[in-house]
Amino acid sequence: MVVTKIAKIKKTGKSENSAKPKDLEKDEKSKQEKKPKTILQTPTGMSDILPQDQPYFDKILKISESFSNFYGFEKISTPILEFAELFEKGTGIDTDIVEKEMYTLRTKGGDLLALRPEFTPPLVRAYIEHGMMSLPQPVKLFSAGPVFRYGRPQAGRYRQFHQFNIETFGSKRPVVDIETIYLCYNILYSLGIKDALVKINSIGCRDCRPCSKKHLINYLKKKQNFLCPDCKTRLKNNPLRVLDCKKESCEQIARGAPQLLDHLCKACHSHFKRVLEFLDELKIPYLLDSCLVRGLDYYTRTVFEIVAENEKSVSQNALIGGGRYDDLIKLFSKKDIPGCGAAGGIERIINLLKEREVKVLQTGKPEVFFAQLGDSAKIRALKLLEEFRKNNFLVAHSLSRDSLSKQLNLANRLKVKYSLILGEEEVKRDSIILRDMKTGKQSLIKISNIVKEIKNKLK
Ligand code: HAM
Repeated sequence: MVVTKIAKIKKTGKSENSAKPKDLEKDEKSKQEKKPKTILQTPTGMSDILPQDQPYFDKILKISESFSNFYGFEKISTPILEFAELFEKGTGIDTDIVEKEMYTLRTKGGDLLALRPEFTPPLVRAYIEHGMMSLPQPVKLFSAGPVFRYGRPQAGRYRQFHQFNIETFGSKRPVVDIETIYLCYNILYSLGIKDALVKINSIGCRDCRPCSKKHLINYLKKKQNFLCPDCKTRLKNNPLRVLDCKKESCEQIARGAPQLLDHLCKACHSHFKRVLEFLDELKIPYLLDSCLVRGLDYYTRTVFEIVAENEKSVSQNALIGGGRYDDLIKLFSKKDIPGCGAAGGIERIINLLKEREVKVLQTGKPEVFFAQLGDSAKIRALKLLEEFRKNNFLVAHSLSRDSLSKQLNLANRLKVKYSLILGEEEVKRDSIILRDMKTGKQSLIKISNIVKEIKNKLK
């Protein structure tokens, strides 16, 4: 199979694997010139998650999954590859993600697949494919894993990154929007991000959006000479997106644009009012951001992003983004089923935690080291290690080392509280040496009692 990036996907779902967007091509060329590529490096925009970073990943995954579980979200895992058309239709043909950033591949059988750039369309697909609409509604799903977007790599923006993602299908109620936001806010809070700020807006629904769009287009047309080239195209294809362009000239124009909120229909207005009331009641800090529209096509009504308020460097990089999408499921199934969800960027959260020096406790850090000397001790050590495992004790060891001093050095490096030392002599006496690593004090313990002894000491 050949993995290629598509620059343009036709509405038919057939891709032209030809030209890359010019800026990306230039970007890659200059990078290549600076640094010759070898196969001994990760592809641009992708990185290894090194052992020292795993505790951060594990913690974010653990907290997001357990909190979501508590709120009734059930875990689902979907394939990393889906039909490319799922995203063309779901995420939207005119979005940057589909137009410029999708990794696609043609299988030997001729299917055009895409590495998922987000979770929402795959979860909608799974909801429909597995008949979840006949279950009691709402159906709430949690997922997590890698996603892929061929964007321009920069701080906090990668080509492979990880998201945790929650979706609620089958309820129109504003409380669902709030549950989504509250859950996300609490996940960040519990990870140590106490200054999370929810930026929020409502972009209306299919009834009121044409009117707000008309006002916006009229306004933007008068300013179009000052828009960046991308926004000139957006003005034709997706005028709402002009509002969240990060170019200074466009930002200035967006600030003076007619507000979407002023043109909401009655139903969207009262929905959004209720969402804001809930936010007030729950004391979740928020900021009404009239320029927030989000870069995905499916949203209706509430859209939001969560940032760390006091963060200036990667600040305006959202940690979590989401919103309501009441027309998305209908696009695929003709059934009028609303939805609401959000996704958190795990790498962005890790960057922030590290920048703020928030310590993450290494889960599974051993408190005991098992040192051994001689062949009969090694065999006995293996049996005893299995005893510790069965009793849920993490015991570090290095069976391939013979030197006791090297093993004890390792124990010191691991900062364990106790070391166990088993030599040929101890095996003969059916005993083991227990060494307190802080005091250096040693005692001889019967092997049959050692698990119990350690259990008591570590209580
Ligand atoms: P999104 O805003 O595209 O939304 O992504 C969600 C989060 O993923 C962002 O807030 C950010 O933390 C992280 N993220 C996005 N792009 C990158 C990147 N290139 N590098 C690193 N992190 C990134 C969605 O994906 C929607 N599916 C969320 C959703 C679920 N809406 C409704 N349900």
